[in-house]
Amino acid sequence: MSSTVISNIATLVTNDPSLGDASPLGLVRDAAVVIEGDRIVWTGESSKAPATDNRFDAEGRAVLPGFVDSHSHLVFAGDRTEEFNARMSGRPYSAGGIRTTVAATRAATDAQLEANLTRLLAEALRQGTTTFETKSGYGLTTEDEARALRLAARHTDEVTFLGAHIVAPEYAEDPAGYVALVTGEMLDACAPHARWIDVFCEKGAFDGDQARAILTAGRAKGLHPRVHANQLSYGPGVQLAVELDAASADHCTHLTDADVDALANSRTVATLLPGAEFSTRAEWPDARRLLDAGATVALSTDCNPGSSFTSSVPFCIALAVRDMGMTPDEAVWSATAGGARALRRDDVGRIAPGAYADLLLLDAPSHVQLAYRPGVPLVRKVWQKGRRLELRWM
Ligand code: NIG
Ligand code: FE
Repeated sequence: MSSTVISNIATLVTNDPSLGDASPLGLVRDAAVVIEGDRIVWTGESSKAPATDNRFDAEGRAVLPGFVDSHSHLVFAGDRTEEFNARMSGRPYSAGGIRTTVAATRAATDAQLEANLTRLLAEALRQGTTTFETKSGYGLTTEDEARALRLAARHTDEVTFLGAHIVAPEYAEDPAGYVALVTGEMLDACAPHARWIDVFCEKGAFDGDQARAILTAGRAKGLHPRVHANQLSYGPGVQLAVELDAASADHCTHLTDADVDALANSRTVATLLPGAEFSTRAEWPDARRLLDAGATVALSTDCNPGSSFTSSVPFCIALAVRDMGMTPDEAVWSATAGGARALRRDDVGRIAPGAYADLLLLDAPSHVQLAYRPGVPLVRKVWQKGRRLELRWM
């Protein structure tokens, strides 16, 4: 197995306090990283780096873990440009827009869905996302949900069954019938292709009792819960997520003090998705309040054609710093180690011996520039499982 040292790194973010300056980011200045095969085997000061077969000179730039985007909806067809346009002229966002994408997704061929998924993944990778989760939720029939998960599973291990995104249009008059389908035949067909189960717990989607029934049924089939919680209004989602030991409660925009306390006293990660607030002109989630209470916070894109059509984690970092009270260090941690926590992974989201060699070289001397230079494509090189990728824009 050949080894490579990346040397002459001005700032290395390890996310392991014991490997660096004892801050959560575990920063090392004038650093080097050694990769062997698909793993990190050594990190430290450049001058102490062991001998290796190959050498890559970072020329005084920053290196950080690849982004872990723990929340996206990438299996869909069509787009909703007109809905966005109308919203920016004052129309409010509601869960109902999902139906437009459901119709387009059902009508698409497997090849069309996979081509769209592949295009978005390439887009995300160029912006530094080396691990991503993605969901079904735009099929809402047994066949269409299972198909979405099968396609997603060709590209990632982090696949989430979201048959409970909204009540399928055919069941508009019979939501209980739809919950029975999701917890019965649809779950049976989908569980083999997924690791996680999710519910959109919200007015206009599923209430707390329905969400509990769906998540509990999923757990009985070996899927682990995560929850779309408290996005558009206050509600039971966060408490339910904590009660069921969900890996993550996602959105967390409308939280009571009791919700914040529950998150802070659990291992359920609060995953904030500022792309959604940006694209729906909604109130920002208060990251500062969650962090000050001691909750673990992740940052993700929520990439989907309705509420957040961005694949850019750097954009989300910049929003979180500017508008949600996070420091640049906190935002970078949340988009890397935080995402890994939200997926209950410790082999990604950090640059430490034993972890996958997923790392980014920025065209900047410090990770802080991800927030300081918003909108600028700073990700210069990406390594995924030890391989340096060719990054091309089409
Ligand atoms: O996470 N909240 C529910 N689902 C998506 C929106 C999906 C859509 O509008 O198509 C979200 O924001
Ligand atoms: Fe979402």
